[in-house]
Amino acid sequence: MTTATGAPVGDNQNSLTAGQRGPGLIQDFYLLEKLAHFNRERIPERIVHAKGAGAHGYFEVTNDVSKYTKAAFLSEVGKRTPVFTRFSTVAGELGSADTVRDPRGFATKFYTEEGNYDLVGNNTPIFFIRDAIKFPDFIHTQKRDPRTHLHNPTAEFDFWSLSPESLHQITYLHGDRGIPATLRHMNGYGSHTYKWVNAQGEAVWVKYHWISDQGVKGLDEDLATKLAGENPDYHTEDLYNAIENGDYPSWTLYVQIIPYEDYKTYKWDIFDVTKTVSKKDYPRIEVGKMVLDRNPENYFAEVEQVALSPGNFVPGIEASPDKMLQGRIFSYADAHRYRLGINHHQIPINRPVVEVNNNYRDGYMRVDGNGGGSVYYEPNSFNGPVEDPAAKISPFEVTGEADSVAYNSDDHYTQPGDLYRMMSADEKDRLIKAFVNHMKPVKKEEIKLRQIGIFYKADPEWGERIAEGLGLKVPETVR
Ligand code: HEM
Repeated sequence: MTTATGAPVGDNQNSLTAGQRGPGLIQDFYLLEKLAHFNRERIPERIVHAKGAGAHGYFEVTNDVSKYTKAAFLSEVGKRTPVFTRFSTVAGELGSADTVRDPRGFATKFYTEEGNYDLVGNNTPIFFIRDAIKFPDFIHTQKRDPRTHLHNPTAEFDFWSLSPESLHQITYLHGDRGIPATLRHMNGYGSHTYKWVNAQGEAVWVKYHWISDQGVKGLDEDLATKLAGENPDYHTEDLYNAIENGDYPSWTLYVQIIPYEDYKTYKWDIFDVTKTVSKKDYPRIEVGKMVLDRNPENYFAEVEQVALSPGNFVPGIEASPDKMLQGRIFSYADAHRYRLGINHHQIPINRPVVEVNNNYRDGYMRVDGNGGGSVYYEPNSFNGPVEDPAAKISPFEVTGEADSVAYNSDDHYTQPGDLYRMMSADEKDRLIKAFVNHMKPVKKEEIKLRQIGIFYKADPEWGERIAEGLGLKVPETVR
């Protein structure tokens, strides 16, 4: 055993004191170092998605998509890329229960030969809001009330009923997919529309779908509540045990390819993350398979310190003008700078497999030699790293005035209504029960009625059933 500086520790049982009864000595550097290090073991947890489980694995290409993207890791069938995937709940803290009703994060880091590519999605194809400017307010309603330190359904339904674009996502959330049976039994989605660009510079839009090879299964709400008490780490344990026992979970990656020009004419705005695009219009095309086959050696080093960001792209994969995605591209790297520090890219779990060459220097926890004696500016006459024009993003034409511009469509009801009507009678019963239970504690009747009005617009039967469950009448104004 050694101190932090490698000197042997002589006694790890008894601190240095003045005699048997005497006070401790400030000379006991090892005791002070040990207590001080312990006090600093915690770093800020993620502001959202704090509770998670992750694993290593690989992604293997099974279908040639090179006509759509020049991304090297997708360039040929059979090609394998190492990955690390982290699953998470959204609202709870690091120690919170796994089996709560909440979307699940589904985030994968691909360690490619062109740098790291992160696909940071959820287990739902849509989201609650569609402009990043609403995110902190939305998350405040999901977190604890500042006065009571309790979760606050009144705030949740106040926000949702005043933000009807949330209807699609809250329908998913209160349906059977709102509590997955295990992390292995859920699909993942990129949710946003992204852009793919091929070697000729031609662009298409893509939507990602990770389809679980284990199948999709939900957890009964009553059982989920029981498990949250008996084994709050139920999902974490299941994933760990499955991998430890050699029962490796896998997902098949599909994309919907949307021809570039279609964004101008498609019936839905393809950059609005509260909407899906139909599989009939844009069928799923297989890309490859991800297998998770290795548990982390150390939870903190790997799962807690992994820095996943939708801003980490590789050539051939680009952002779209989705107003949420644009905000996320800033937000995650900013969170990493706060949570892990400016040099978090050097932490082994985040380090790319390729050489990193830039003129970033210094900063807290710079541990890689800091560029040594190499040139530290550009342009220069000393053979320093230079830009590669082939890696420039493909252009996207824009028009209009700089302004606070909303999305064009305010039809928040057709797609959720269709989702409701697609449900079997049993599924509908469970959906109504989940909503009614969640809405009962809402303190203001006005909020309940406003939310009922939104259900009613999507499908009158849905509105009637929630109103009946809550012992209220559907307001005349929405009939
Ligand atoms: C985590 C912000 C929307 C999926 C996070 C974190 C932040 C954040 C700050 C913590 C990052 C960290 O500390 O490592 C935002 C903002 C959003 C947004 C500002 C909207 C503008 C979304 C959407 C999705 C999503 C739409 C899914 C499609 C995730 C996932 C994680 C996460 C999976 C956890 C990543 C991990 O496992 O480390 N988000 N988020 N978020 N977010 Fe978002």
